[in-house]
Amino acid sequence: MKNLYALERARREAAERVRALGLPAVEDDIRDVEGEVDADLALPVFRAAREQGRKPFELAVELADSLRQGPGGELLDLSRTTAERGYLNFRLDPVAFNRAVVADYRRNPEAWGRSDEGDGRTVVIDYSSPNVAKPFSVGHLRSTVIGQALHNILDWCGWRPVGDNHLGDWGTQFGKLLCAFARWGEEEELAADPTGYLFRLYVRFHEEAKQDSALEREARDWFRRLEIGDEVARERWQRFVALSRREFDRIYELLGVGIDYTLGESFYEDRLGPLVERALAAGVARREAPPEAAGGEFEAGKEVVLIPLAEQGIETPLILQKSDGASLYATRELATAEYRLERWKPARLVYVVGNEQELYFRQFGAALKLLGHDVPVTHVNFGLIRLPEGRLSTRAGRVILLEDVIREAVGRARTVVADREMTEADKDELARLVGIGAIKYADLSQSRGKEVVFDWDRMLALDGDSAPYLQYACVRCSSILRKAGNRPRTDFDPALLAQPEEAALVRRLARFPDAVRAAGRSFEPHRIAGHCYRTARDFSAWYAAVPVLGAESGELRAARLLLVELTRATIGTGLRLLGIGVPERM
Ligand code: ARG
Repeated sequence: MKNLYALERARREAAERVRALGLPAVEDDIRDVEGEVDADLALPVFRAAREQGRKPFELAVELADSLRQGPGGELLDLSRTTAERGYLNFRLDPVAFNRAVVADYRRNPEAWGRSDEGDGRTVVIDYSSPNVAKPFSVGHLRSTVIGQALHNILDWCGWRPVGDNHLGDWGTQFGKLLCAFARWGEEEELAADPTGYLFRLYVRFHEEAKQDSALEREARDWFRRLEIGDEVARERWQRFVALSRREFDRIYELLGVGIDYTLGESFYEDRLGPLVERALAAGVARREAPPEAAGGEFEAGKEVVLIPLAEQGIETPLILQKSDGASLYATRELATAEYRLERWKPARLVYVVGNEQELYFRQFGAALKLLGHDVPVTHVNFGLIRLPEGRLSTRAGRVILLEDVIREAVGRARTVVADREMTEADKDELARLVGIGAIKYADLSQSRGKEVVFDWDRMLALDGDSAPYLQYACVRCSSILRKAGNRPRTDFDPALLAQPEEAALVRRLARFPDAVRAAGRSFEPHRIAGHCYRTARDFSAWYAAVPVLGAESGELRAARLLLVELTRATIGTGLRLLGIGVPERM
């Protein structure tokens, strides 16, 4: 049988006891209670009462009475079971529970919070995915940071994650770019600022195309040349890709992110024609004039290939091929998904992409199903990042460069750590960990659908819900453990941890595996961030209330040192799962 963590076992025990009394409760019905209520775990009995035609409170009272009089529990103190309105309230047995939590951690300290929920199944995570010839945007920053966190979290939940960076390196926009480059391109400017320059060329193309109708035709011709492997077109395109990738790699390096694969959209080129044919032959796709809503991208009146999705409840069809035979983002998406299914045989496909592609991913999911693939698809969506007013956002008309944002964060962190007693090189390294950590934490500590506002002061505050506060909590734990000689005795009874602040902290720490699992199930890293923050607060309250290094006895001191160690493991692992590093000293 697999190892369950203490809280899971306690929930299971509660459910079993209730089932033994004839009520069909399962583990997941048992709630973990926090706050005002006088309980550790609770079971709502409203539905069961309704089914039996009884009053919820009466049923709860009856169950509580039976449980109190029945046999004792393992992790629960059943003699303290009570009823409150329609809830059955359970109490943990503090002695048994402390022992169980400490044993859970000791069983494998390196794997604290790990579970085998994923059962070794594969999940492909599509994240980061910036576009060649465009600057790496703040939107792609979110995808990168959230995607990397999910990769870590799902791995910790027993999945086999495969990360794939779906680089935007193909499509008719490259015809436009090649056309613009042939007309106006300057090698020196390209070398000086590749993605910035290419982006400016692209913008210029669109401006001039408004006056000069020849440009669109020329661009289509360039894309055709690219598709048939014309040497000049290929060579230039390859250079654009290589130069862009070099810039992206520099950003990944700054962020400390490594993605398993980078298979750009162009990688699927050979699969596009056959995919469209197959979709047509299967009757999934049709040739039809594009719907009005498809916009000016399609030549009026000329037929395209599209997948109607009305029967799937989606009004807008998914267009697979333009009238001139060119593929689209969606065509490459479907080909990519098929490739991933063949190659990695995943149990799930995950896409970390902004809210603005919500409709598109619904269309894609429906189309994939119509093509006969039954794999679950999850669009892990997220909102925009808003930058503070001022230097970064007001440089007239210029795109915000992600590198500037990162440098700003690290620069500000450098000021915060300026007066530390350490070498300049150590301060630089510390500023990097704190600055990058602050950016990632600001992103990951919010529920991801919402927009993130970068507020530097809050992000770098040492005493708020911020990366530095949590990093500092870890550093503080390490320093306490160092003072204790790093090898505390292990022969103590965890039952000694009996102060109220202690019980609260143990309880908090015991929730970590749940937080990790919840984050993995809902693809929501903020559940871990929030848990780390609450742990740090409970730790501070406890540390202020009880002597640790100066505890009354050696045994008590050892027991408390273990809580320090477990706190460090919890916050440190949590931060690591979020992709945030912890400095040695701070
Ligand atoms: N390159 C795309 C963009 O910037 C994001 C790609 C996301 N991944 C995907 N499989 N569609 O909008």
